Amino acid sequence: MSGLKVLSVASEIFPLVKTGGLADVTGALPGALKPEDVVMRTLVPAYPALTAKLDEVSIAGEYSDLFGGPARVLAGVAAGLDLFAIDAPHLYDRPGNPYLRPDGLDWPDNAHRFAALARVGADIGLGAIGGFQPEVVHAHDWQAALAAAYLHFASGFRPATMVTIHNLAFQGHFPLSTFADLGLPERALTIDGVEYFGGVGYLKAGLRLADSITTVSPTYAREIMTPEFGMALDGLLRSRASVVHGILNGIDDAVWNPAADAALPQNYSALRIDMRARNKTALQSKLGLTPSPDRPLFAVVSRLSQQKGLDLMLPALTELVAKGGQFALLGSGERALEEGFAQAAATRAGSIGCVLGYDERLAHLFQAGADFIVVPSRFEPCGLTQLCALRYGATPIVSHVGGLADTVIDANDAATAAGVATGVQFSPTSDEALSYALNRARELFHDRATMRRLRLNGMRADVSWRGPARRYAALYRSLAGTA
Ligand code: ADP
Ligand code: GLC
Repeated sequence: MSGLKVLSVASEIFPLVKTGGLADVTGALPGALKPEDVVMRTLVPAYPALTAKLDEVSIAGEYSDLFGGPARVLAGVAAGLDLFAIDAPHLYDRPGNPYLRPDGLDWPDNAHRFAALARVGADIGLGAIGGFQPEVVHAHDWQAALAAAYLHFASGFRPATMVTIHNLAFQGHFPLSTFADLGLPERALTIDGVEYFGGVGYLKAGLRLADSITTVSPTYAREIMTPEFGMALDGLLRSRASVVHGILNGIDDAVWNPAADAALPQNYSALRIDMRARNKTALQSKLGLTPSPDRPLFAVVSRLSQQKGLDLMLPALTELVAKGGQFALLGSGERALEEGFAQAAATRAGSIGCVLGYDERLAHLFQAGADFIVVPSRFEPCGLTQLCALRYGATPIVSHVGGLADTVIDANDAATAAGVATGVQFSPTSDEALSYALNRARELFHDRATMRRLRLNGMRADVSWRGPARRYAALYRSLAGTA
């Protein structure tokens, strides 16, 4: 079997540029696929943070005009990842968040910035770079999805295409006038092409035209075909149901390994789970919480957005604290939520702590120190924090949606009797159901034997990339006709 070549096209990649789980996935996939004999290189924009880390650089391609300025495609290695980086200063030489201006608004030229990413991805697919002819072009989310459209409308040989939906809420929907700049043929502007509600839809185009569509959990794959979760694309997705696959994400078990995690004051494993307690004390003291092994510590590590349902957590805090619990939050995002949690921490110091911001290291201490990680999402394509929680022996409390439903086994009577439960699930995503779940968790916490079992089951669950990588590899091979 010879190595199958895949070009992954993405707007972020861990550990170089990350705003969420998308980066974790694109950063982990190439390594996870190596044992499957898949050679993956990733095309990304050369943002300043990425360029600064790029080594072994060579020029692999040049454009005299890529959406308004000259550009080069750099081949190089950063953080152990084989990359092609689009060096186009007029598009990407901007510090900070890859999508937003410093004032928090989208960059006004995002339609061009990410059409350029897709265009270059398609060109590499068409053989633009000597020595790397991908058999599959795998585009992630709306920022890369147009690559499938460029390849669909190209003539002659083209590689197979796959679009992965990490989050259907972000669609890349732009005014019709954008179309003229895309360099696609007129016939692409139809309902079966890039046209979308009177404008241009990048994700829509990718989903219409890719050979294969994946999303990041089996349950989300079903949900997005319903009006409730389909965000106006459910009809299109239903019409393509035969090529839609749900493949769960994993987590990188080298990055997330409690036995060797340098961010923790105390390493531990399932065999030495009692040693975990020191991390709880460290987390409590870091967040200004009263150090106490006997109070259940509930925690959240999250973007603060409507998707994550954390507005439901705020009113639940009064009862949680009244019943002896503690709460810690690490998050950033919507201002009203940031203010709400800051206010709650200020009025109940010792019981509620909050760190507003993005802190990768602290996220590890949260996972190692919390008793419970709460993820009350309204929708969740996969979710990674509950996977980290399982691996770190923090028991997840999750709403029954998307990947949360697929990765946590509720501690109901049957699962507990069978000894397989790993957490607490609740449904629907509502105040009452969340409050009920938090109370159930608190009762579990005081049942030491059951709690220990839950933690150990979680730590022993396979949340690695091994299974998912096999599924991606099999799908690439069947797409490339080499299965
Ligand atoms: P999403 O991509 O929708 O935000 P995921 O659960 O898939 O949700 O991935 C979130 C990733 O971002 C995880 O790796 C999580 O640990 C990390 N993360 C989220 N918020 C923070 C934060 N404030 N500080 C550090 N890491 C965070
Ligand atoms: C998105 C989703 C999240 C998923 C991540 C990686 O950000 O919101 O559920 O885990 O992508 O696929």
